[in-house]
Amino acid sequence: MVRIKKAVFPVAGLGSRFLPATKAQPKEMLPVVDKPLIQYAVEEAVEAGITEMVFVTGRNKRAIEDHFDTAYELECELERAGKQALLELVQNVIPKNISCIYIRQPAPLGLGHAVLCARPVIGDDPFAVLLADDLMDADPGYPSAIAQMTRLYQEEGASIIAVQNVPREFTRQYGIVSGTPYKDRMEKMHGIVEKPSPDQAASTLAVVGRYVLSGKIFSYLEKLGKGSGGEIQLTDGIAALLNDEAVYAYRCAATRYDCGSKLGYLKAGVALGLKHPELGDEFAQYIKNLTR
Ligand code: UTP
Repeated sequence: MVRIKKAVFPVAGLGSRFLPATKAQPKEMLPVVDKPLIQYAVEEAVEAGITEMVFVTGRNKRAIEDHFDTAYELECELERAGKQALLELVQNVIPKNISCIYIRQPAPLGLGHAVLCARPVIGDDPFAVLLADDLMDADPGYPSAIAQMTRLYQEEGASIIAVQNVPREFTRQYGIVSGTPYKDRMEKMHGIVEKPSPDQAASTLAVVGRYVLSGKIFSYLEKLGKGSGGEIQLTDGIAALLNDEAVYAYRCAATRYDCGSKLGYLKAGVALGLKHPELGDEFAQYIKNLTR
C-alpha cells in the first residue's frame, strides 16, 4: 500500500488581500487565536502520518523557517524564568521526527508553478498539498481533512481533490469540477475549470485547498503555459492529469474557513475561539453580551 509521506505547503503568494498585515510576513503566519495558520496545516499533515514538510517560500520566508526551527535564546530565557509549560509549547511546535525542507519560488507565477518547484524533493511519489490559508476544522469524530484524503488515496490509488459546494454566484472565485457520483462524499471527476463564470460553471463543486496528487502531475505542470489570471494554474495541471488517470473529488468532513479573505479569517477566529479550552466559555459569554 502506498503511504503518503510528503506534503507541499505553497506559501509564496503575495497575500495582497491582507495588506498591510502581509507586507513583511507571509499570510500563512497570521494567527488564529494563538497559532499561525501554517501550524494548523502542519498539524493536519502530522495527523495524516506525513513526515516530510516541503515549504515553497517566497520573499518573506524567514518567519516560517524561524517558526519551525529551534528558538535557542527564547528557550534559554523561558528555562531561566522557570516557565516550563511555555518552554514545552515552544519546543513542541513540530514533533521531533518531522523534517522541514524549504524551496524558493523565484517569483509568484501561480500555484501550479509553486507546486512544480517542489518536484526535486517529491520525485515520482504521490504527495499532499495544503494551502494553509484554507483552515480546515475536521468534524467531530473524523481525522484531519488531509488524513481523510490520504486514506482515500490509499484505497483508490488515485488523486483526491477536496471540494465543497458554493453558491453559484461565487464560481468565479474557484476551480470548479464536474463529475459523476461515486462513493459517499465522492465524485469521479470528468473535468475541472479555473474560475468559470456562474453561467458557464459545470457545477457548484468548488476546489478548496487540499489535494493528494499522483507524482505524474509534475510532467503536466512543466508543460503548462499561463492560465486564468496570467498564472500557471494547478487546476490546469489536474485537468491534463485527468486525461491519463482517474481523479476523485471529495467533500471533506470538515468546516473550511477561507482565511485568505478578511471575513473568513474573522469567522475562523470566532469559531476556534469558542472552542478554545482556556478561553471558550468566557469568549462565548462576551459574544452573547455583544449580540444581546
Ligand atoms: P492565492 O490565490 O490565495 O494568492 O494563493 P495570494 O497571492 O497568496 O493571495 P492574494 O490573492 O494576493 O490575497 C493560494 C495559495 O497558493 C500560494 C499562496 O501562498 C496560497 O497559499 N501561492 C500562490 C504560491 O505559493 N505561489 C504563487 O505563485 C501563488
